[in-house]
Amino acid sequence: MRLLVYGAGVTGSLFSARMYEAGHDVSLLARGERLTALRAHGVLLAEGDSPATRQVSVPVVERPVDRYDLTAVFVRTHQVDAVLESIAGLDGDVLFLLNWAAGPGPLGAAIGRERVLLGFPPLAGTMDGEVVRYRATTLMTRLVSMPIGEPDGRTTPRLERIVRTFRSAGINAKAEPQMDAWLKTHAAFEVPLGQAVRAAGGPEALAGDPDAIRDMIRRMRHNLEAMPTRPVPRGFNALRTLPEGVLVALFRRFLRSPTAAPLGTASPAVSAELDRMAEQMRAFSRAR
Ligand SMILES: NC(=O)c1ccc[n+]([C@@H]2O[C@H](COP(=O)([O-])OP(=O)(O)OC[C@H]3O[C@@H](n4cnc5c(N)ncnc54)[C@H](OP(=O)(O)O)[C@@H]3O)[C@@H](O)[C@H]2O)c1
Repeated sequence: MRLLVYGAGVTGSLFSARMYEAGHDVSLLARGERLTALRAHGVLLAEGDSPATRQVSVPVVERPVDRYDLTAVFVRTHQVDAVLESIAGLDGDVLFLLNWAAGPGPLGAAIGRERVLLGFPPLAGTMDGEVVRYRATTLMTRLVSMPIGEPDGRTTPRLERIVRTFRSAGINAKAEPQMDAWLKTHAAFEVPLGQAVRAAGGPEALAGDPDAIRDMIRRMRHNLEAMPTRPVPRGFNALRTLPEGVLVALFRRFLRSPTAAPLGTASPAVSAELDRMAEQMRAFSRAR
């Protein structure tokens, strides 16, 4: 499978490096200073805070240069429009692995409905200059899967092929029959969480403000009620059913844990993504 990875930030870099190391035909599309840096030294990876970095020489391109069987898009929500424009005239399937609560409609309208697949990257990390610092592998992180689905939920030969190819590189991909609902559920949770962290000035600060956490939980519940379907995965129902006091205690613990630390990354791109996701969610709440 000839693969183009569109977007060379944290998740695109990690994914392309894994696929390349597993022997796949992959190109990584980058721009600006990132493109220059990648051309100079390839993808640099480090586990957690380790000073040891590993170099992976993934081929880098500035624009799509060929026909790709699959383009995997790893950009921020507010950056998708420009990507759609640049791939509209090409062939091949396109898998959007990002936060997206607007459904497959706008993606299909721009590039052709039959080309679109949806997913979400489990590959968490941060950029430290040019080094991608990824979360150390534990039993828990091994269990986290990369859900991928057809917009209409069918299990198609192309979906099976993509899942198989990713799994061959050690990526825990899994076919998800309700991918749009999965992404909307994720946004219903992540937008209030991100906004509350931003307003408080970081996860630690939010952990120290139970009133702000209660307000955040109420907004999550409101979003889940406004969803066109039931939450996916079903575990998110706990946000509706557990007593508020229990949820406040669980969130305080989570916000003080190392897992929540990346939520404190305050960059213009993170902020712009959050605002675009909030807009997408308001649209589906109104549509109900
Ligand atoms: N990071 C995580 O741990 C994590 C975990 C789970 C899910 N996610 C989600 O996964 C998605 C991708 O996240 P990320 O962390 O990989 O984002 P990121 O680090 O900000 O990377 C996005 C990359 O795409 C590039 N880009 C954007 N538009 C482009 C264009 N038109 N042409 C070429 N390059 C373009 C950006 O370049 P510029 O810097 O020049 O804009 C940047 O290098 C987001 O929806 C995010 O919320 C992230």
